[in-house]
Amino acid sequence: MLRRLHKEQPASFAFTPANETWARAQMTKFPEGRQASAIIPLLWRAQEQEGWLTRPAIEHIAAMLDMAYIRALEVATFYFMFQLAPVGSVAHVQICGTTSCMICGAEALIEVCQQEIAAKAHNLSDDGKFSWEEVECLGACSNAPMVQIGKDFYEDLTPEKLREILGELAAGRVPTPGPQNGRYAAEPLSGLTSLKEFESGKKAYNASAQLAVDLGDTVKRIDGTEVPLLTPWLGKGGKKAAAKKPAAKKAAPKAAAKAAPKAVVEAEKAPVAPSKADAPAGAGKKPRTMKAPRKAGADDLKMIKGVGPKMESLLNKLGFYHFDQVSKWTADEVSWVDQNLEGFKGRVSRDNWVTQATKLAAGEETEFSSCAKKGGIYQ
Ligand code: FES
Repeated sequence: MLRRLHKEQPASFAFTPANETWARAQMTKFPEGRQASAIIPLLWRAQEQEGWLTRPAIEHIAAMLDMAYIRALEVATFYFMFQLAPVGSVAHVQICGTTSCMICGAEALIEVCQQEIAAKAHNLSDDGKFSWEEVECLGACSNAPMVQIGKDFYEDLTPEKLREILGELAAGRVPTPGPQNGRYAAEPLSGLTSLKEFESGKKAYNASAQLAVDLGDTVKRIDGTEVPLLTPWLGKGGKKAAAKKPAAKKAAPKAAAKAAPKAVVEAEKAPVAPSKADAPAGAGKKPRTMKAPRKAGADDLKMIKGVGPKMESLLNKLGFYHFDQVSKWTADEVSWVDQNLEGFKGRVSRDNWVTQATKLAAGEETEFSSCAKKGGIYQ
């Protein structure tokens, strides 16, 4: 199936304050510079909050994780669990259409959705409250046929039962999930044949259904206030650290922007050697930098594979404007730059920038640069 962003998009996206805190906490699970690893949980939380994944949400999360937008878009469009079109404001019904469910009547359940919701999957019902889709096996085969709504399974369904459940949801009630034919869980319909000693003292519903009943509203959009934020990997005081926004990081570009005009005037004094004051914090040796590009203007560093607009401005801030600067980096200097590319650590060696820059400085094209010039591809 072709997975594209929906043609109508909202103007902006923001996490609710509690979801924002949760998202920042997830980012602390990964080592410095590897925050992109949090992409799936953050996209998922955005979807739980909005019901579907909007373009502004993907952009917002890419910025939070210091990723190129295209990388976040790749993830969002690859996994079918991400809804790229609006879903019903009350419920999105996912019907399992795999073998057990198909044999036991999934097609009749799909017909119910076509009649009650919309003729085609991923379309909204007339009142905008419902949508549906067919999905692969959801792992409840012994209770086939079944559907998932929100986080809950409704199992052992018949068309009449599904119609009833949709009616309940439309009326603003949350039906009880779990088996719909009187079974407790996945035992034989005629009753237990073994482990009968566990029958006494059991709760009214099986553990999953009981949890849903206890929560009360399992089709509610997640705003982060449902459960307290837990960050056991941060130890004591971890919650505060996770909630803190990286303010210092945002202040730096402002200061650099203010200083820019003066730096341009000093362009002809370049190149300059690194002073002791700006000695590298990480491994390796800081290469020679320039305060501003040469008179003819900076090279388009985006012609180097691995450099996007964000990375280019970061390189410029560090004092790198030209291919020949990059082409002269020694192994020690590559190591320094790799360590100091905030959010993009290791990119220089990963994409062999020195080899690429050597060709570009000599006026030659690389496979990437000729492709980028034709199609305007930036990574
Ligand atoms: S086949 Fe439907 S849940 Fe496995």
